[in-house]
Amino acid sequence: MMNQKLKAIASFVSKYDTVLDTCCDHAYLAIYLKKNKLCKEVYASDINPNALAVAKKNIAGAKLEIKTYLSDGLKTVDNKDIDTVVIAGVGADTVLDIIRSAPSSIKKYIISSNNHLAYLRHKLRKYNLYIQEEVAVLDKHKYYVVMLVTKDYVKDNRNTIRFGKSKNVEYFRHLIKKEEKVVDRIPKNKVFRRFRHKQNIKTLQKLIKRI
Ligand SMILES: C[S@@+](CC[C@H](N)C(=O)[O-])C[C@H]1O[C@@H](n2cnc3c(N)ncnc32)[C@H](O)[C@@H]1O
Repeated sequence: MMNQKLKAIASFVSKYDTVLDTCCDHAYLAIYLKKNKLCKEVYASDINPNALAVAKKNIAGAKLEIKTYLSDGLKTVDNKDIDTVVIAGVGADTVLDIIRSAPSSIKKYIISSNNHLAYLRHKLRKYNLYIQEEVAVLDKHKYYVVMLVTKDYVKDNRNTIRFGKSKNVEYFRHLIKKEEKVVDRIPKNKVFRRFRHKQNIKTLQKLIKRI
């Protein structure tokens, strides 16, 4: 089933893209892209044979033809046409492992990591990959950040690395609440740690004013 996160991912796909959805799970995204003719071609892969079996069943149920691969990232995907890779619903370390296993011919990544977004943003730059756009979407009371990443250089700063470049005021308010909870939990004598998180709150408030 397409949720807000998968729709946000689909919004970054263009009709000229040849897409591989790694971590496809039940292939909802690939089916949606194919059914609505939103890209040139789409393939689906997953490391888990059970997930892939359900994906194949869903693809057949939708009366579509989508080639699937059982693969850890792109390690056993022998397809030279792919230029766009989706990596979503896994942690930052897996995202980075998958990027390392990908050929240099990949022009575009669409990424939604389950965790450590600031670390991921920082690391992507080390691989000469740059976040062009980001959206933060709310789905079932949880925020998901989706990043459009290419090799085109983009200047970033501390704030875009830490908090991203989505223009979603509600998401920034959500980050402020998280920071407030962190401050509440830090003992009063840990002055520097408390200061750092209070500074984060001030920065987020400034970012909201600029939107
Ligand atoms: C939570 S599901 C995400 C499904 C969908 N991409 C989404 O974002 O809603 C995570 C999927 O990633 C797959 N996965 C985890 N590590 C992987 C890897 N290294 N390569 C390919 N698939 C992986 C799991 O088997 C699982 O099906």
